[in-house]
Amino acid sequence: MVLELFFYRNILKNYEGGKTMENRENWGSKLGFIMAAAGSAVGLGNIWKFPYTAGSNGGGAFVLIYLVFVILIGFSVMLAEFAVGRKSHLAAVGAYKSVDRRWTFAGVLGVLAALLIMGFYPVVGGWALAYVFKVFTGLLANPDGIPDVFGAFISNPVQPLIWMGIYLLLNVFIVSKGVASGIEAAGKVLMPLLFAILILITIKGLTLPGAMAGVEFLFRPDFSKVTGTVVLSALGQAFFSLSLGMGAMITYGSYLNKSENLVQNAGLVTTMDTAVALLAGLAMFPAMFAFGMEPAAGPGLVFVVVPTLFAKMGGIGMVFSALFFLALTVAALTSSVSLLEVISAYLIDERKVARPKAVAISATVMTVMCIFASLSLGGVGPKLFGTGVFDIFDLLTDKIFLAIGGLMLAIFAGWRMDKEEIKKEVTSDGTVKFALFEFWYALIKYVIPVTIAIVAFTGVKSGFDAGVGGIMVLGLVIIGLLAAFSKKL
Ligand code: PHE
Repeated sequence: MVLELFFYRNILKNYEGGKTMENRENWGSKLGFIMAAAGSAVGLGNIWKFPYTAGSNGGGAFVLIYLVFVILIGFSVMLAEFAVGRKSHLAAVGAYKSVDRRWTFAGVLGVLAALLIMGFYPVVGGWALAYVFKVFTGLLANPDGIPDVFGAFISNPVQPLIWMGIYLLLNVFIVSKGVASGIEAAGKVLMPLLFAILILITIKGLTLPGAMAGVEFLFRPDFSKVTGTVVLSALGQAFFSLSLGMGAMITYGSYLNKSENLVQNAGLVTTMDTAVALLAGLAMFPAMFAFGMEPAAGPGLVFVVVPTLFAKMGGIGMVFSALFFLALTVAALTSSVSLLEVISAYLIDERKVARPKAVAISATVMTVMCIFASLSLGGVGPKLFGTGVFDIFDLLTDKIFLAIGGLMLAIFAGWRMDKEEIKKEVTSDGTVKFALFEFWYALIKYVIPVTIAIVAFTGVKSGFDAGVGGIMVLGLVIIGLLAAFSKKL
């Protein structure tokens, strides 16, 4: 569905010059929209990033803070993004620009965030794709060797680049050619399958001896582990996983019609996304503790735990492994095409570049970024403040850009737009009962901006202890520059 949206949009733009409101109502059904927004939200963020981030931030306390952020900030910001998008009927940059030219930079910040995420996301997408095949080479058959297989694979200078290239080509193909139906059909089968395999892994993991320690790790908060960076990581994870803070949900909202219930939609997408993340955590940690692995193992977590668990099952386990990575690849694809589209749409709408050229330019830049990101995992390439390229892109986006993007959106909706207008939008001209409107509005106007500002400040401060403060400050400087030069954007 994600893709259907893009192509309708493109076709409409050709016929209508992109501004005809009635014709922007493209969601065939309510389910279509939910699937598209959930398709963008559910991806590597939930299944790859959430477990290892929770693991390296101490477990329970991180998960609890993450959940509080999802409920209070994530849901509210998503609702605000939908409302801003539907009100303007324009994609991210246009939505800001049409209200106030000085706000254009907030939209452009989102485009930049999307570009930076695409500087490392396809690398991990490539790993997932590679693992579909690696399962069959027998490389993952011996449980004890699996951690080494992963380590050797990602630090190899050539292999991961090839898979990343194939993964990126799939994105380009989908976004530029319009083979929406194929991948959509695949998604419809593979998403439930992914969910089913995660449940299977969870059950399998929970029945292993020593598994309960993993459940405890995930759900028993130990607040002595909480630092400013842990709290900022939880906020960043919430934004990343829900695809917030960079305009993707503004763009989705711009295709909704007035009869849609935004409150319910935001609630459903938030719930689905969070359920998948928690399930992924439950699938990983019990098994990890049972196997005696380190919870802070880092980005390799799913790529080690899942094959190890299935390798212990023998032959049929291999099939499950392959299916898991296939489903993970498709989940990643439905997210990354939404990122590629955000960037291409900017070039098409704001820079008047033709679509094929826009996609080609975006993909070329991404390829270069991804090559550096991938090589950095083998210790090759430039470093900044001692941090490699992969980590720089990751840090800049989920710790700084998305959070500040969310902050901007909240300030924009709370202070720049008119309260009555927002109320009309959120309640679909009063037809949707939203009893908590005043509470939500107070969150958006006061609580969320203040909370994000405090969390970002303390996070950056404690980031210096972790040696990543320099990169975070660089992120803030970039945002400052964008704002300063917003007239040129
Ligand atoms: N939410 C996606 C994931 O969890 C990643 C993403 C972030 C997609 C921001 C679009 C925008 O994998």
